[in-house]
Amino acid sequence: MLVSFGRKLGGVVRLRPLLCLLADEVRRIVGAARCSIFLVDERGRELWTPVAHGLEGKDLHLPLGAGIISHVVFGGKAMRVADAYRDPRFDPSVDRMTGFKTRSIMAVPLKDREGRTFGVFQVLNKRRGDFDAEDEGLLDILASLAASAVESARLYEELRDSHVETIQRLARTAEYRDMHDTAAHLRAIGRYSRILARGCGLPDSEVESIECASPLHDIGKVGIRDAVLLKTGPLTADETEEMRRHTTLGWEILSRAKSPLLRLAAEIALSHHERFDGRGYPRGLKGDKIPVAARIVAAADVLDALTAERAYKRAWSFEESARYILEEGGKQFHPKVVAAFGKAADAMHEAWEERCRPRNGAASKP
Ligand code: C2E
Ligand code: SIN
Ligand code: SIN
Ligand code: FE
Repeated sequence: MLVSFGRKLGGVVRLRPLLCLLADEVRRIVGAARCSIFLVDERGRELWTPVAHGLEGKDLHLPLGAGIISHVVFGGKAMRVADAYRDPRFDPSVDRMTGFKTRSIMAVPLKDREGRTFGVFQVLNKRRGDFDAEDEGLLDILASLAASAVESARLYEELRDSHVETIQRLARTAEYRDMHDTAAHLRAIGRYSRILARGCGLPDSEVESIECASPLHDIGKVGIRDAVLLKTGPLTADETEEMRRHTTLGWEILSRAKSPLLRLAAEIALSHHERFDGRGYPRGLKGDKIPVAARIVAAADVLDALTAERAYKRAWSFEESARYILEEGGKQFHPKVVAAFGKAADAMHEAWEERCRPRNGAASKP
């Protein structure tokens, strides 16, 4: 049982899915009606959980200080309570929110490598009898296995967040010269790409990676001269050729990166102007030879370019732009991407509206 528990944990790197999996497994193993995992927030003033059974989809925040779980945090020791409503330490406010009636409680601390309590594992209402010493021993073992998994997931997320932030800053640098609203533009590209990637049936991890990497698609524009990049009229043949180098320049900037996310970005930068019919650039790749992430960003990019005002063109309406993209299925764009666009037209429209809305606190007007 423990081996299979450990193996299941090993397959999950993100914090939320990990906590959900833990809660379900522990509830089953211990034979309880509910399981929740509370974590102490960074400032140490609150306990929060994304996985209180009964509050699906909502995070629950509790002030640190009240209730059995706070006792476990402060004491660093497991607790068992047979009849919660007779125990003055019990805080019934969660029951009031969930409509659940807590009877018995068993809670054990989650400790980091230094022995500091950073969370609590709690099971409620044992199905048969009361929680006993044996249950407590079992929950203790599960908690120590869970603790190291939760610690790694947190480290992974911190690392990933700072990585993603750096990527977004880098993307802004590239767009800075020819865009006035880089932040909204980059967010829109990410959203469109996410919706299309999901619509193409890609797994969640890939959808997320494409969303993160897509804003770097035009990073190669840093190497294009102002005279070309900022030109208000149509480009001459030479200028077009220079402009098209932004794809290979992007590849040169990113492709030798170690990070899988940056390597994905490199692939997107190189191939986001390829066309399904093979008439794109820089390599003239055709159909399924075009990497899937690049096919997706190609459509996201054009939707964003058409709906925005550029130095060389007026802004098109969403409807005109969507019609254009649907008509280009099998020509400029991969039919699967266009099908995903058609099916998710409402979500795309919503993402476009979000892009048009001015945001408070934008850094663009000091
Ligand atoms: P961008 O402005 O971000 O446009 C990205 C892509 O959106 C374009 O790739 C094109 O596929 C599509 N697109 C943009 N505007 C239109 C349009 O009015 N009609 C149609 N059918 N498609 C449109 P493309 O053409 O390879 O251009 C790449 C980049 O080259 C553009 O990025 C822009 O920075 C620059 N560029 C392209 N054409 C011109 C131009 O006539 N004048 C200037 N100054 N720059 C241009
Ligand atoms: C632009 O600056 O690129 C267009 C303005 C906007 O979409 O807010
Ligand atoms: C990923 O591709 O999902 C993560 C890899 C990274 O952060 O570099
Ligand atoms: Fe481009």
